[in-house]
Amino acid sequence: MIDGQLVPPDGAVVSVFDRGFLYGDSVFETIRTYGGRPFELEKHLARLEQSAAHVLIDMPVSAMVLGREVVATVSASGFPEAYIRVMVTRGSGELGLAPASTLAPLRVVIVLPLHCPAPEVYSRGIDVVTYATQRAADATAAQGAKVANYLVSVLALHRAKETGALEALVVDGGGDIVEGATSNVFAVVRGVMVTPPEDTGILVGITRERVLEAARELSIPVDLRRLPLGDLVAAEEAFISSSVRELLPVVRVDGRPVGSGVPGPVTRRVHEQFRRNVWKYMGLTGTPPPLVPPGVAAPG
Ligand SMILES: Cc1ncc(COP(=O)(O)O)c(C=O)c1O
Repeated sequence: MIDGQLVPPDGAVVSVFDRGFLYGDSVFETIRTYGGRPFELEKHLARLEQSAAHVLIDMPVSAMVLGREVVATVSASGFPEAYIRVMVTRGSGELGLAPASTLAPLRVVIVLPLHCPAPEVYSRGIDVVTYATQRAADATAAQGAKVANYLVSVLALHRAKETGALEALVVDGGGDIVEGATSNVFAVVRGVMVTPPEDTGILVGITRERVLEAARELSIPVDLRRLPLGDLVAAEEAFISSSVRELLPVVRVDGRPVGSGVPGPVTRRVHEQFRRNVWKYMGLTGTPPPLVPPGVAAPG
């Protein structure tokens, strides 16, 4: 859907003068459905509004209207479960970086079939690489906003792919792990679940909030603190979180095993609790499918 009009994928085009295309001058959200309905839609749209405010893009319509457009696009797609991307760009105008005050922001909702990692990926865990960098938005008004310029993440994932890893963890100038290229990161250190705090410039993940909630419900101690690379390597367990992947165990960092090199019991318990909560919030019937497919030994 573009500016409120449903369009088929091959007719969904925007101008080459759009600033999202020219400069990455846009904000976005990635959302998924459960039971065919978007999960945490209000929170994603609130974060989109916040991101837009950070970079001085005026929202073209209210979150309520945009929410209705998301639901309408999902329903028109007919996909049983969907991946949803909502974008707001500053709009099209004359070439030149300084944004004219007359620009009309553009909104786009893309809906595709949802592809989640295979169950084996959850039961085996993933390799990650570290990627030392300062992100372009850090220490600017855009810090913590979901702006479309993901070039650092693109390069980091390129590095990951070269080594067969599925995610790259961003390490800041101080040697601390900040977050993944497209995820938040957690480690279990001496029984405490550690994740970097908001002031490290992370994107405050909506899944991260649900992970913290699940840990609280399970009485697992949590520490929001900086996570030096050494702590991650010495951790008993680690995992990443994001809307599409939920919680994904990390079993190797730069080729070195985390803990015993298999997904850990805390990760699994928190993930199961997270899923129970999703099922409850979404009013889904039955129980969430098991994380470990039949015939595969459960870790921990
Ligand atoms: C940089 C970054 N951090 C964290 C996340 C996880 O956010 P959420 O849980 O809201 O999907 C994402 C998701 O795309 C991301 O791009």
